[in-house]
Amino acid sequence: MSRASANGIPPAEPWKRHVSPDPKTTPTVYTFFEKATSTWQYIVVDPNTSDAVVVDPVLDYDPNSGTISTDTADGLVSFIEHNNLRITRILETHAHADHLTAAQYLKKQLDGDIPVCIGQRITMVQKTFAPKYGLEAESLKNAFDVYFKDDEEFNLGCLSCHVLHLPGHTPDHVGYVIGKAVFTGDSIFNPDVGSARADFPGGDAEKLYQSMQRLLALPEDYRLYVGHDYPQNRDQMCFATVADQRLKNKHVKEGTTPSDFIEFRRQRDAVLGAPRLLHPSLQVNIRAGRLPPPDEQGRIFLRIPVRVDLHL
Ligand SMILES: [Fe+2]
Repeated sequence: MSRASANGIPPAEPWKRHVSPDPKTTPTVYTFFEKATSTWQYIVVDPNTSDAVVVDPVLDYDPNSGTISTDTADGLVSFIEHNNLRITRILETHAHADHLTAAQYLKKQLDGDIPVCIGQRITMVQKTFAPKYGLEAESLKNAFDVYFKDDEEFNLGCLSCHVLHLPGHTPDHVGYVIGKAVFTGDSIFNPDVGSARADFPGGDAEKLYQSMQRLLALPEDYRLYVGHDYPQNRDQMCFATVADQRLKNKHVKEGTTPSDFIEFRRQRDAVLGAPRLLHPSLQVNIRAGRLPPPDEQGRIFLRIPVRVDLHL
């Protein structure tokens, strides 16, 4: 009996199953939309071998009750076991500020000591945020198993994968080019959503513009699978092709100048509030999905920094 069936969670139902039209060049991509945080999670499979990676899995967190649960992640585990996939890596695109990663939970649930991977500049993000939450930077050393260098290559079964550094939304942000499928995280959104904010620490609208250009310079039939979708008056979508993005991205289509984009982002970001799950997300995600250690009574606490000018 698998652990997933022990948890009683049936296999997650993919929103779409993008079966590879050509196993030499293209993975099969199963797409799972996590509605509470509008996050796309992906299971990317080499059809030749059934080797697979998981991209940006979500750990459920209810901020009102302070409850962390694993229904979403258990659905993925169950799907993986049901389809006899061999997960070789768990890939994070960046330190998310709007949801908790289930990377560590998946690693524990699945056999094989699967490496949790992220871009090498996660160490910058850890250095920025550790002091904000009273964490020792030293305690975050080696939190991840793999720190990808820019343009590093690795294999997914018979398919080659390429790590693209895509800074701007966050400094550590990377995308993963796996055959003709690109997992962009938050470096681009679907054409009618446009782009992500660039005002987090280490964010930079000019760099985001350049990262988007890098994606738009890929071959036009490549599919850009996004990290989130925020549909209005349509169903959620997980990808647009490079050709579609070049033509229709509402923030950076062909002809948009860097200064147009930077000015747009400056104005837009100035009126955005902090993400709802900012503090829990960062504290867990810079630990690669681990929770803070429990106290003597077994209680786990996350910290919420408070801004106040009063002395009370
Ligand atoms: Fe993000």
